[in-house]
Amino acid sequence: MEGLDPHRLPRHVAVIMDGNGRWAKKRLLHRVAGHEAGAESVRVVIETARRLGIPYLTLYAFSKENWQRPQREIQALWHLFRRFLRSERPRMMENEIRVRHVGDPDGIPEDVYAEFAALIRDTAHFNKLTVNLALNYGGRHEIARAARLFAEDVQSGRRDPSEMSPEVLASYLFTADIPDPDLVIRTSGECRVSNFLLWQIAYAELYITETLWPDFREEEFLEALREYQRRERRFGKTSEQLGQEGLTPEAVAR
Ligand code: FPP
Repeated sequence: MEGLDPHRLPRHVAVIMDGNGRWAKKRLLHRVAGHEAGAESVRVVIETARRLGIPYLTLYAFSKENWQRPQREIQALWHLFRRFLRSERPRMMENEIRVRHVGDPDGIPEDVYAEFAALIRDTAHFNKLTVNLALNYGGRHEIARAARLFAEDVQSGRRDPSEMSPEVLASYLFTADIPDPDLVIRTSGECRVSNFLLWQIAYAELYITETLWPDFREEEFLEALREYQRRERRFGKTSEQLGQEGLTPEAVAR
């Protein structure tokens, strides 16, 4: 399978899609043209994950910080998301892809959220691939929200403070029933996490490529997966321990 071991694929790949603006600038185009070209990469990466049998894919499409961009660009992005959600609907249904939201519904334009909510509802029974769209997402916001929800449960008597643990906190996150990412891909060379899945990426492998997001297509995705398979994941243990236990790193993580 394209130089990949099908038994050692990541269960969850999370992507920071960066470089649309630079891609457009290099071509003397408006930044929005870069986002439009980036939407095609989104389509390709979803299709490839589905074909390979990767069960979870999370895409960072709009962060809480992105509201600081010029108004015109923000509007164009929401327009693009709505168009994408509409045009991709038949493909999602046909390929039995579940779409979920990771992020804060508050603040998302109503017409976009209506389209999104309908797609989430209509694909909820699929399980071939789950695509989490991080829209209006911020990692710190997510963790603070989890703390607030837990506090509310304590206040109402459903929980006791002594029950708090990493597992319990994780159960209040947007990703409650989703395994943590094994691999985080960031395009366009920046070496930052940018408030993305802060809690969930504690043990993730980071793969940073100079390729700009609109140029990140099937071959670039396969290369990231090959690189992932070349790495040894230790989860705090030594190589010798992993060897003695006869466990694959993926098995240790589970
Ligand atoms: C970062 O590039 C990209 C974004 C802030 C938006 C991500 C959106 C897409 C990939 C468009 C399509 C997505 C979907 C889900 C249809 P940048 O603008 O920060 O690039 P720069 O750093 O080069 O300026």
